[in-house]
Amino acid sequence: MNRRSFVAGLIPALSFSQAKKDADKLAPYYPTPESIVIKMLEMVELKKGEKMFDLGSGDGRIVIVAARKFKARAVGVEFDRDLVKQSADRIEKLGLSKTAQIIHGDIMEQDYSSADVLTVYLLPLSNDKVRPMLEKQLKKGTRIVAHDFEFSGWTPEKVQHIDDDGEGRSHTLYLYRR
Ligand SMILES: C[S@@+](CC[C@H](N)C(=O)[O-])C[C@H]1O[C@@H](n2cnc3c(N)ncnc32)[C@H](O)[C@@H]1O
Repeated sequence: MNRRSFVAGLIPALSFSQAKKDADKLAPYYPTPESIVIKMLEMVELKKGEKMFDLGSGDGRIVIVAARKFKARAVGVEFDRDLVKQSADRIEKLGLSKTAQIIHGDIMEQDYSSADVLTVYLLPLSNDKVRPMLEKQLKKGTRIVAHDFEFSGWTPEKVQHIDDDGEGRSHTLYLYRR
């Protein structure tokens, strides 16, 4: 194979992998404000030593607050390499490596059966996509707090509306129990 056909052969492969990455993307990066992170973890009553996962952990803020303030064993799942590095660096700097961890991977390819608590800030159609997987995997009693977008087909135990997060943005939180 000459150099030209080798390069030409790469182009469809690259665009295929980009298309797959786009299809796998369950939400763009849009962080939860720190004040709302606290409200989510309070609403879900996260306790010391409990195992929690943040599905699409962005810069790791929920994982870090869960481990630091709530003393939970917190795991984030994130497929953006830069965000994973940013979170991992901060976790190390804060000395939280024993209780906070970020998995560099796809939300749809993890095992959540050990979770006591999940935090979710994904788009409505993405909640529909992850719901069957969670229904199969989650143990009875797992609590889930969803930011802004509810899970259709599940009845929330509580709904909390925050009119202003201090920056003029309103938020709604939904608490579920499996
Ligand atoms: C709306 S942001 C929420 C970030 C964080 N949970 C928070 O509330 O601050 C959604 C995150 O999910 C990540 N994400 C989207 N689809 C994903 C997938 N299939 N696997 C892993 N991460 C994903 C995005 O890169 C982004 O960081």
